[in-house]
Amino acid sequence: MNAVLPVIGRAGHFITLEGGEGSGKSTLAQHLKASLERIGHEVVLTREPGGSEGAELIRRVLLSGAVAPLGPFAEALMFAAARDDHLEQKVRPALARGAIVISDRFADSTRAYQGVVGGVDAGIVNALERAVVGATVPDLTLVLDIDPVIGLERARRRPIAADRFEREDDTFHRRLRNAYLDIARQNPQRCVVLDAARPAEAVVADAIAAVRTRLLESRRAAS
Ligand code: TYD
Repeated sequence: MNAVLPVIGRAGHFITLEGGEGSGKSTLAQHLKASLERIGHEVVLTREPGGSEGAELIRRVLLSGAVAPLGPFAEALMFAAARDDHLEQKVRPALARGAIVISDRFADSTRAYQGVVGGVDAGIVNALERAVVGATVPDLTLVLDIDPVIGLERARRRPIAADRFEREDDTFHRRLRNAYLDIARQNPQRCVVLDAARPAEAVVADAIAAVRTRLLESRRAAS
């Protein structure tokens, strides 16, 4: 794998992984991290909700389902609060020292889950994103696309209890898939859609290729 990726340079890069339940984001994150480290990069692997002490605290509350009765707007606010802490404590410092940050979920999850599917007004989601994310927009977002029937079956094979969102019905998950595909269509410079129904090796190979071309392109554009 050594020569797969050229060294990307000093500036940090922000990669986010998005997609529905059981789409294989966590496995992909591990493989990407290993590939990038093999060619000498510092890689910070993180996740949302969570990734910092404060955000992990909020994660527990959100995934327990305790906030669900308050509605998607309240959930969006809490995801935003968790994101604010995560960005401040972990993501921005890592990017500032030149690391590659890979986040398993980020702001597109709020856009898809609470915005499109939950019905929180797009203007509000945008305003929250501007306030919390600001300039820390991902350089590259890999959207793992999979038929939700297959994804949920995979997710349910995990030895942990289904969380608040996995328990939603099939319509929820179908709408979620479309929401992600729309986000990718609306942000072609940032997003790459990967067919996640294929074997993991094929998904990983495409993801590595996307990281190489997209990050190199952005470096070329910046120089
Ligand atoms: P997690 O166990 O990390 O799920 P997954 O393996 O699917 O990534 O749980 C995160 C859940 O929170 C997931 O169902 C998506 C949801 N979520 C939102 O609804 N909004 C958000 O902004 C984020 C970051 C996650």
